[in-house]
Amino acid sequence: MAAPIPRDIPLPLPAPEGFLEILLVVAFLVHIVFVHLMIGGSLFSLVCQIRGLKVPDYEKLAYRIMQLVTVNKSMAVVMGVAPLLIINTLYAPQFYASSALIGDMWMAVIPLVTLAFLLAYVHKFWWRHFINIPELHIGIAALETALFLFIPLIFMTNVNLMLFPEAWPQVKGFVSALLLPNVIQRYLHFLSATVLSSSLLLVWWTGRKSFAQEVQFSKVRLLDVRRFFYAFAFGATLLQMLTGLLVFVSLPAQGMGWGFTLLLMLGGASALPAVYWMWQNLTRTDHLLDDNFKRIIASFACALVLMGIARHDYRENALADHQSAIKEKTANYQAAVKVAAEEAQLAAKALEEQPRGAGEIAFEQNCAACHHATLPTVGPSMQEIKELYAGDPSGLIAWTKAPGKKRPDSMAMPSFAHLSDAQLTAISGYILSH
Ligand code: HEC
Repeated sequence: MAAPIPRDIPLPLPAPEGFLEILLVVAFLVHIVFVHLMIGGSLFSLVCQIRGLKVPDYEKLAYRIMQLVTVNKSMAVVMGVAPLLIINTLYAPQFYASSALIGDMWMAVIPLVTLAFLLAYVHKFWWRHFINIPELHIGIAALETALFLFIPLIFMTNVNLMLFPEAWPQVKGFVSALLLPNVIQRYLHFLSATVLSSSLLLVWWTGRKSFAQEVQFSKVRLLDVRRFFYAFAFGATLLQMLTGLLVFVSLPAQGMGWGFTLLLMLGGASALPAVYWMWQNLTRTDHLLDDNFKRIIASFACALVLMGIARHDYRENALADHQSAIKEKTANYQAAVKVAAEEAQLAAKALEEQPRGAGEIAFEQNCAACHHATLPTVGPSMQEIKELYAGDPSGLIAWTKAPGKKRPDSMAMPSFAHLSDAQLTAISGYILSH
């Protein structure tokens, strides 16, 4: 594998790995459903508002849909914390690497999300202020929607890049990571899921008993509005299947496995009945079958769970080799650190246990009080003495026996003529070799 293998920081996981994986799949699915509803709501509010230019009833609908967006937005953000934390925990080296490789754009998520939310608030809370300038209002809604649509692309680029460490050396920033073989397909698959889930939400929401009081249409029939959303759901489902297929064929083989393929097939199959039930409702002209709606939701819920598990399974397969390589590298590094620490300890101990030379002992007893190793104190430093008497031990000994008076600011050095020649030789040897 030509992938860079980072070294991990071996900390224990805060919970059993299997539990964290289940939690990741569940928390991610909850999060992504609200993300879809938030983005799709913004998109549908825009679509209805544009349609409202000609059919004013749709403008009322657009306003009501915007109420849903801000609720779903809060849910999406709150429910996004858990999966982000867990992915950071389970795939720390990979996620860190991919985040760093698209660093600028990854950081830009914060201002972009902030801006998108602020625009959503302006769009929703100042609805009446824009009544006479619908173009500007629609422009704001369009910018908000465009941001909402763009931000998931950053997330998707990141989680895709983390799956393929062998691509890391070639990737130079966001755009090149975006152009990796299967990002665009994944994004289109994501977009069709956005349209699908939010149009189904709107089918349900416009079908509630209280809806007729909340939004009073003057011309448009509620049935037609609901069929309008069914049409989107139907079309999005077909697109979903097509783009799903494109994702599947563009996925690098390293993550493929029988379990994964089986899960995908089961997921796709469990969505098929929903296509039929949607078609049934779409073609009715009298009233919609509410039981069909429940069935549709049940069938999509099955598909969603199976796809969610498949997605995780692919990631585990794709990263299996890389993760074990990191584990091995980390273990080797840990072992090397341990050996080095032991060696250093042994060396320190050996140094301590080494018998100190007679010269060193005699120096400390007789001279160290006035001569520091490097700094001038009462007398000049050992270093200075060494420079003065390099290669001249007898000169040093002669001075020590009968010191002269050299430095004007210093006191006179006392004589050490009482020491034996052997001691003086040892001392001078120590100073000059130090
Ligand atoms: C009580 C303080 C004191 C002690 C103890 C002492 N010295 Fe000194 N030593 C001095 C002072 C002060 C000078 C600077 C004298 C001067 O420049 O006139 C000096 C200077 C020297 C010099 C420099 C000579 C030069 O040519 O500049 C040497 C060499 C020296 N000491 C060696 C020794 C040795 C070896 C011992 C221990 C056996 C020792 N000293 C102990 C105070 C001391």
